[in-house]
Amino acid sequence: MAYALEDEFGDIIGKARRGQDLSHSQIATAAGITGTELSRMEQYTLKPTETQVLRLAEVLNLDGTKLLDIATEAWAPEPPQQISTSPLEVITISAPVGGWPVNAYLLICQATHAAAIVDTAAHPDLILEQLAARPVKPTAILLTHAHSDHTDGLPKIQTATGCETYIHTDEPKPRSETRLREVAHGDTLTVGELTVTVVNTPGHTPGGCSFIAENVAFVGDAIFAGSVGGPNISLQDEIDSVRDNLLSLPDGVRLFPGHGPSTTVGEEKAHNPFF
Ligand SMILES: [Fe+2]
Repeated sequence: MAYALEDEFGDIIGKARRGQDLSHSQIATAAGITGTELSRMEQYTLKPTETQVLRLAEVLNLDGTKLLDIATEAWAPEPPQQISTSPLEVITISAPVGGWPVNAYLLICQATHAAAIVDTAAHPDLILEQLAARPVKPTAILLTHAHSDHTDGLPKIQTATGCETYIHTDEPKPRSETRLREVAHGDTLTVGELTVTVVNTPGHTPGGCSFIAENVAFVGDAIFAGSVGGPNISLQDEIDSVRDNLLSLPDGVRLFPGHGPSTTVGEEKAHNPFF
């Protein structure tokens, strides 16, 4: 069985290296391996020893025990359990964009059947099909960030649903059919009877944000199960904002990322080597 995480050992050490502006040779020398060996480890053509994993973790400011669990495929997050008394339902819509699976979600208020579309990905037809297949009324489009693999379907979904679209004020704006509604940290909006709170999670993009409702959070590419999104803007901002605004939530809160499986605050505190 393929390991289920979005990022494995090679991706994690590559992101940690790039995010700290360290060269291959700096890391390799400090970890006692050659630059070629490091490149091969990042590309999964060389399996590191336990000692090498722990030395690399130390050099890259990662948690060694957690990194070792991922390197040896000893951990994957527990899948969610549907609780029938929950006031909300989350539908995951995953489809490949450019060869890689991207997640969009429906957040449904059980009391009113209002639904928010979280990220429109590049497969709008699939999202519209999922909406049509259930008795829900789409009321909002929430964008965690503007990258095209998460927003290319936006105009078609706006036209089909007539929903307002919410995106963080600091985020570059994607192509849109309607005027975007800008939100900032601490803002709230409603989906039926659900209150959704916006929190800052920049670092992957300048205005990346997450949307929290009850015991779930939609986190875009800020954090993945066992890893973080590519730190295009700032790894430190990514780590600080995720720690302060997501990992400070109760352990049972389920995190739904833009790529890979969902996880929980508790699982990430215990297993994510960046924290
Ligand atoms: Fe992204």
